[in-house]
Amino acid sequence: MKDWMGKIRTLSLFSLMVLLLSACGRDNLTALVPKGYGAEESLRIIIITITVMIVVFIVVMAIFVFVLLKYRQKKGQENMVPKQTEGNKTLEIVWTVIPILLLIVIAIPTVATTYDLADESAKEDSLNINVTGEQFWWHFEYPGEEIQTSQDLYIPVGQKVYLNMMSTDVIHSFWVPSISGKMDVNPDNENTMYIEAYEEGVYWGQCAEFCGDSHSLMDFRIVVVSQEEYDQWVTDMQNVDPDAVPESTTAQEGKALFEQSCISCHAVGNTPSVGPNLSNFGDRTMIAGVLEHSEEELVEWILNPASKKPGNGMLDAPYLQDKSVSQEDAEKIADYLLQLKASEITPDSAK
Ligand code: CUA
Repeated sequence: MKDWMGKIRTLSLFSLMVLLLSACGRDNLTALVPKGYGAEESLRIIIITITVMIVVFIVVMAIFVFVLLKYRQKKGQENMVPKQTEGNKTLEIVWTVIPILLLIVIAIPTVATTYDLADESAKEDSLNINVTGEQFWWHFEYPGEEIQTSQDLYIPVGQKVYLNMMSTDVIHSFWVPSISGKMDVNPDNENTMYIEAYEEGVYWGQCAEFCGDSHSLMDFRIVVVSQEEYDQWVTDMQNVDPDAVPESTTAQEGKALFEQSCISCHAVGNTPSVGPNLSNFGDRTMIAGVLEHSEEELVEWILNPASKKPGNGMLDAPYLQDKSVSQEDAEKIADYLLQLKASEITPDSAK
């Protein structure tokens, strides 16, 4: 009885974990359905490597089972000592050469692809985006277009896009599994990676290097749109007016509060900022990368960011220390932020 209970408990724990892991709502966070060049190449190497491993496994297991059956102790031979041999040149050469050949089979495409994905020959003539990883969010700057944004990275479909990546604090790793491989985002040097998406859509990305309390919440998205839509988006973002007066009175009051409390870290428009740029905050479908895009969540986020993303940079904000932002204030700020819509081109329109 006890044994059964244990089994049931293990099973339910296991199913719960499967459920938890699969129900994250992180659509297309998979390297197995490639929608971009880097991801496709990575999958090709994964398949080559797994095929080699499966062949090795089958051969080794077949020999193992054969030896087990053929040389097992037989009735009446309990005390028999088989013929003892030591060293066999042919065998030793065979089992040294085979792994070398297998490693060469894996190494050739791996090295070729590694060089191919590091190719920077088209960098000058392509779209360049500066990516900055910070605890626990992503800043995207389009230097040629003079656009700053965060969390949602917009790119045109079918184009090589070069990402120049650096971190302001610890090591992060940029990873959108269905579009490309991973790239370390270091505080001391710039790493460049190009991505090329094959299909329009919204692709989930995650930080893939442990970087602190909320590492697992350092999510972002790549929004892949047609060239036409991308150009439209660029124009719309360039036209963001930080001084635009919101329609509703609460949002107007929210704007005033935002400019008292939040503007020291955040920015609207093409201004560099310590915290996330919020130019198109209203266009996004997530708050802080992981929260539902609703007024309720946003108010909670403003008032108690530690409960949603432990260890994040906003915890040091003066308004949280001196509690100068009330529930009512937070609602007004949320009203202002949610109406910051920059473009018709959004993750929702790209889906
Ligand atoms: Cu950034 Cu993990």
